[in-house]
Amino acid sequence: MDAKVSMKNILVTGGLGFIGTSLVPKLQSLYGAEIRILDNLSNPSGDLQASDGIEIVESDVRDFSAVREAVRGVDAVVHLAAHTRVIDSIEDPHLNFDINTVGTFNVLEAMRQEGVPSLVNASTGGAILGEVPPPINEEIAAKPASPYGASKLAAEGYCWAYAQSYGLKAASLRFSNIYGPHSRQKSSVVAAFIKAIRDDGAVTVYGDGTQTRDYLFVEDLTDGILNAIQSGATGTYQLGFGKPTSVNTLIDIIRDITGAQYSVTYKPARVGEILHTYCDISKARTGIRYDPTTELAEGVIKTWDWFAASRDG
Ligand SMILES: NC(=O)c1ccc[n+]([C@@H]2O[C@H](COP(=O)([O-])OP(=O)(O)OC[C@H]3O[C@@H](n4cnc5c(N)ncnc54)[C@H](O)[C@@H]3O)[C@@H](O)[C@H]2O)c1
Repeated sequence: MDAKVSMKNILVTGGLGFIGTSLVPKLQSLYGAEIRILDNLSNPSGDLQASDGIEIVESDVRDFSAVREAVRGVDAVVHLAAHTRVIDSIEDPHLNFDINTVGTFNVLEAMRQEGVPSLVNASTGGAILGEVPPPINEEIAAKPASPYGASKLAAEGYCWAYAQSYGLKAASLRFSNIYGPHSRQKSSVVAAFIKAIRDDGAVTVYGDGTQTRDYLFVEDLTDGILNAIQSGATGTYQLGFGKPTSVNTLIDIIRDITGAQYSVTYKPARVGEILHTYCDISKARTGIRYDPTTELAEGVIKTWDWFAASRDG
């Protein structure tokens, strides 16, 4: 696709995290981009360091002047930094609001003041929409079930408003459940299960395991992010694989492909977690030529192998 946005200098907030660690090398290898990462080091993958072409600014998205300095001179921003856990947002909604909503506002306002034209904002599907019959799409009215979902919805609102008011290109990409390499610091389900199987020979499921999610391999997601930047998209796009998988099926898949033996304990479902979700990805397919290809079993093998080979594996 023809680039409508220059990819020379890119700021990635939260770029040291799970998704950033897969995205940054791709931005370098495919576009020769110079990368600046703004990250407060609260939850880094540990796999990405400053090097030729990667500058790391240790700072916080809540600090407006630091954000303004970081956006200066870049062509586009990928905003990944966030307070990412539903459960933590229920425990501390104020902190979640400050990081996710105020932090995103700071990024937008800094971009406006510095004349940076293009933003890709990491958002979420299920947590914003709440419990609705799947597949979810971009037209469904939002009813967030947690402060995390509400903070991301508010951030999307500011992205849209800044696009309308100031002509920024701002795409909010609603990620489904992302899994893959560089997720050792994550508590999301695939990473949590792999770590629990290896460390304890036992996994804990919250709920009865029939709850469904749309699991998307991180490399498919980062391809989608690149397409969104390149195409200068504005608006909201669901990025998932487009298929529901129950937690119990995921457990069977991991057992089948790894041959690992482990026990499964069921505990009560957690507040704020929705039961069933998967995405209709047709808008992203058309709008940003998004085309995820990694089946769950294939992605889980790659993730399992990465954990086995990684330094704390
Ligand atoms: N991983 C998923 O399944 C998933 C699903 C939906 C949405 N998302 C969104 O994608 C984005 C990236 O997620 P991830 O899985 O890579 O998370 P992550 O926790 O691995 O990475 C987030 C990064 O942001 C940094 N950070 C946190 N708070 C910060 C702050 N106040 N200032 C600066 N840096 C800060 C952390 O140190 C970390 O490096 C987040 O916005 C998240 O909400 C992720």
